[in-house]
Amino acid sequence: MEKPLRIALTKGRLEKDTVELLERLGFDCTAVWEKGRRLILPVSDANLEVVLAKANDVITYVEHGVCDLGIVGKDTIIEMQGNFFELCDLGFGKCQFALAAKKGVDFYSGFGVKCIATKYPNVARHFFANKGMDVDIVKIEGSVELAPLLGLADGIVDIVETGVTLRENGLEVVEYVTPISARLIANTVSLKMRQTEIETLIQKIEEVGSK
Ligand code: PRP
Repeated sequence: MEKPLRIALTKGRLEKDTVELLERLGFDCTAVWEKGRRLILPVSDANLEVVLAKANDVITYVEHGVCDLGIVGKDTIIEMQGNFFELCDLGFGKCQFALAAKKGVDFYSGFGVKCIATKYPNVARHFFANKGMDVDIVKIEGSVELAPLLGLADGIVDIVETGVTLRENGLEVVEYVTPISARLIANTVSLKMRQTEIETLIQKIEEVGSK
């Protein structure tokens, strides 16, 4: 039998919806639900293997061809770019990129160069470049909302899902940047070499519908 088709899933926020999608496709994901600390998981009734990784690493593994497919947020795709195919929108993990700042503060007032904290420097740079606005960008790894609260930044560019994190920290959306959702991506060579299997999978995804 041909080696298993290997698919990299993003740990965390997208994980549950992704595994549920695989189950709706008819795959037995028991090993994934019961993974413990294991990172490479077989799907027992299919020639499929699941790898769990951080979002940026999903793209890296797919780009390098050690995973044939990946499921990752459009936020990471826009930020990282790279050489892979984006095959379809899976319809879950819906949120928005937004510029946010302290509630009641007019972000665009004043002439000084604004400081923007973000986990997504490329997205932020592109957003402000389109406005012709010069900003300083500071890369933050998590809980970006802290940066304006601590006085490090005037605003943040981050993902907003429910808006609870902003609300509970006295911040508000200044402007939405772009909608985001989970995407299926493929390694360029895998897409040629394992075209039938991948096309069958996409067809199945279309049949079960997006959530
Ligand atoms: C994301 C994002 C916001 C929060 C938004 O962080 O960076 O902090 O979720 O979600 P909400 O609008 O539903 O409140 P995540 O939980 O991925 O963790 P991180 O901040 O450590 O990256």
